Amino acid sequence: MEFDALLRQRRMTRRFDPAPLPAELLERVLDQARRVPSAGFSQGVDLLVATGAPARRRLWGAIAGEGWLASPGAAALLAAPVLVLPVADPGAYVRRYGEPDKAGSGLANVPAAAWPTPYWLVDAAFSVFALLLAAEDAGVGALFFRLHRSEQESLAALGIPEERRLLGAVALGRRAGDDVPGMSARRPRRDLADVVHREHW
Ligand SMILES: Cc1cc2nc3c(=O)[nH]c(=O)nc-3n(C[C@H](O)[C@H](O)[C@H](O)COP(=O)(O)O)c2cc1C
Repeated sequence: MEFDALLRQRRMTRRFDPAPLPAELLERVLDQARRVPSAGFSQGVDLLVATGAPARRRLWGAIAGEGWLASPGAAALLAAPVLVLPVADPGAYVRRYGEPDKAGSGLANVPAAAWPTPYWLVDAAFSVFALLLAAEDAGVGALFFRLHRSEQESLAALGIPEERRLLGAVALGRRAGDDVPGMSARRPRRDLADVVHREHW
């Protein structure tokens, strides 16, 4: 699809068709999600992907808790045939910036908590957006949404080391016929002239 059309057309999907996605389509979309910029090419972003119903149920339980799973709003999301959790690794960036070619970066041997910009979150966000665009390009709907319980509780339930960062989750699947834009997406987009500050602030 042409890039401008892809950007304009992409929007979060709220209702999913439960039909599984073809394996090769999912493979391509996941591969595209890792072809993003990465600070120092640290590539400290992992994707935890569940497709089978038991694995999806387990991931959902870990990031949302059983109470939310039983709520009326959950059913539409639980239908999505794929769930992807983007997981960032601060340690990969601290190690990379401790290498000799990064000695002048100002970040050498700086512990993760003291980084002015957490590059691992920037990279993970790039990866999520590439995933959203790749899905759209493949004719697949996607929704990025927040964790419904704390990040630490979610990581522990998933068996992921506690120093990793879990940004949220991406549900993937074909759009259901009754899918409609979410409430927030009905707000007007800010004008370009409002967003862009030309020559000075
Ligand atoms: C950081 C972030 C968190 C979001 N969290 C949620 C969420 O928890 N639930 C949800 O339904 N949508 C969530 N969204 C989707 C936004 O509401 C949506 O992107 C926005 O309304 C613009 O709509 P569009 O992406 O369809 O163009 C989130 C988006 C971002 C970028």
